[in-house]
Amino acid sequence: MSTVHAGMTMSLDGFVADRHGGTARLSDPATANGSEYMAELIRETGAVVLGRRTFAMAEDPDRFVGNYEFQVPIFVVTHTPPDVLPKQDERLTFTFVTDGIASAVARAKAAAGDRAVKVIGASVVRQALRAGLADEVHVDIAPVLLGAGLPLFGDPELDGVVLRRIGVREVGTFTSLRFEVVSPPIVGGKPSLEGR
Ligand SMILES: NC(=O)c1ccc[n+]([C@@H]2O[C@H](COP(=O)([O-])OP(=O)(O)OC[C@H]3O[C@@H](n4cnc5c(N)ncnc54)[C@H](OP(=O)(O)O)[C@@H]3O)[C@@H](O)[C@H]2O)c1
Repeated sequence: MSTVHAGMTMSLDGFVADRHGGTARLSDPATANGSEYMAELIRETGAVVLGRRTFAMAEDPDRFVGNYEFQVPIFVVTHTPPDVLPKQDERLTFTFVTDGIASAVARAKAAAGDRAVKVIGASVVRQALRAGLADEVHVDIAPVLLGAGLPLFGDPELDGVVLRRIGVREVGTFTSLRFEVVSPPIVGGKPSLEGR
């Protein structure tokens, strides 16, 4: 049964992109494509859920095939699917999901088999946590302060999420943290179990 891993690389002060939307300062060769760390992530990942803005980071969406680290089925959460599907092959397929995060995660789990579903994109990570869909939170901490930018968390609706640390690793200059989600957020005084 597939597990759902939500998370991204974050500055120590909590941002996944700088004030100009850039992520260059959140990179380290030890976590880049071709590294042993990335090879491990690739082995454990059977499908990916992306927010549309993360999908749009690629200048040419046809280049996902053969170039994106995860050559697996990709589910893009969006209100507006493109008119023309990006290039696909027998390993990397695109599904544009317009009926919400729970649907995207359910479809990704079905595609991932025994391997994990990775949820990437600040908005979709938070939605997965709010809906109780994430089994684990993975955050790689870059040793940099960005001062401002796009926060990963800072969402009042995540109040009450309880995590249990299950992994701490030094990866190059980064600290790679893994947490199991023990309890979903408290919604209206009660834990949210939607999607569990
Ligand atoms: N540090 C890292 O590891 C890392 C990794 C990847 C990306 N990033 C950065 O993260 C940023 C992207 O994160 P983000 O939070 O801005 O966006 P995101 O989560 O990637 O995508 C958000 C978009 O997805 C669509 N969407 C989200 N939830 C939806 C729903 N329930 N139903 C329908 N559509 C939905 C909407 O787009 P539409 O309405 O347009 O369809 C929404 O604007 C970028 O700045 C990128 O550079 C950082």
